[in-house]
Amino acid sequence: MLRNQRQRRRVEGWLTRVFDALAFPVATVSLLHNPKIHKSYRMTWRRKIALARRLRRTTRAVETGTSARVHLAMAARILEIPPDVEGVIVEAGSWKGGTTANLSLIADLAGRDLIVYDSFEGLPEPAEGDRWASPLGQGAFHGGLDEVKANVAAHGAIERCEFRKGWFSDTLGDHTEPIVAMFLDVDHQASIHQCLLGLWPHLWDRGYTFVDEYLRLDYCALFFSERYWRTYFDRPPPGLMGAGTGIPLGQVYVGPHRRLGPLERATGVAWTRKDFYGAWDYFPDDVPSVPLAGGPGEPDGVAGWTTTTVTTDERTSWLMAAAIKDDPEIRERLAAMLRSSDAGRDAVAAALGRDVEPADAGAGGEDPPSGGADPADPDADRA
Ligand SMILES: C[S@@+](CC[C@H](N)C(=O)[O-])C[C@H]1O[C@@H](n2cnc3c(N)ncnc32)[C@H](O)[C@@H]1O
Repeated sequence: MLRNQRQRRRVEGWLTRVFDALAFPVATVSLLHNPKIHKSYRMTWRRKIALARRLRRTTRAVETGTSARVHLAMAARILEIPPDVEGVIVEAGSWKGGTTANLSLIADLAGRDLIVYDSFEGLPEPAEGDRWASPLGQGAFHGGLDEVKANVAAHGAIERCEFRKGWFSDTLGDHTEPIVAMFLDVDHQASIHQCLLGLWPHLWDRGYTFVDEYLRLDYCALFFSERYWRTYFDRPPPGLMGAGTGIPLGQVYVGPHRRLGPLERATGVAWTRKDFYGAWDYFPDDVPSVPLAGGPGEPDGVAGWTTTTVTTDERTSWLMAAAIKDDPEIRERLAAMLRSSDAGRDAVAAALGRDVEPADAGAGGEDPPSGGADPADPDADRA
């Protein structure tokens, strides 16, 4: 069965690569054929294609949680902002720095600086009430500051970057610079809450916020939650374009606009299901009195409501595999723990794409997974 799984994954990987290779030129034309790109950036087609090729080269060289198509979509928006609007670009959550490198290239074209916030130690320990934080995921997506800097130096414009190391709860409160665009890719509810609290007030009135967690309905709900925006920002919710599982963000429809770009079609549909759960429920200052199935304090999963196509169990397996892959110490600890149960062995085997021996059959930790499916990136376009 494992062999079948491996073969299936190999074929799926190949199909994804073919699709990406064919879709990228289409996305480039579609996204960069944008009359709103500001003239002063002198983005001729030659420069647009050079940018697209560099962005793609980076994502092929450095493992990233978001695709070059998404980076192109961000570039198209950022290059619309008139150069006389003061402001930096911010990235919160850089992992290995591949997306950082690409954002720095976009920043360079726009003549702006890029400020990068990250622990550079991976995900933090779970905050109470955070449904997407798991103790097993602590330390996952670890990219050390030196590794990130090296990747940006090799593939981006490091002279445009300032790196601010630390937990968001310690660093973001000191942010002062006006922001024209920010990219938040931080996984935990508490982390995105801290990013919004620290950064949103500095965002230019027409500035962009890009969010990686768009596949999760509750994160989408955050941007539509009247209660959240009234409580923390005294304003109506801003909404979220391209939100929701199944919509290929940045590929076929970037709207809102009246004139569609070439190959751009607003012909997708959105859908939901009666048992889905799409309410933002992380209000750290307020514990709701009525617990909801799958809501605050209740793990989702078999008995709870489903918020994404990924169950908590699956996600935990991937996070464990990512931690095993990234950190030798965590690898040693988790692998020993996991190999002592059938379920643990199955989870690791599925993520690594090969058999895993019981704990007493061998000493030490598992080897990191090699190539192929990225356990930290179960969904094609995101981490
Ligand atoms: C999924 S990774 C980012 C992936 C990256 N944007 C990419 O495209 O490759 C999430 C990142 O958020 C950082 N992070 C999450 N919560 C944080 C917090 N509270 N403080 C500091 N860093 C945090 C982690 O260290 C990690 O680098």
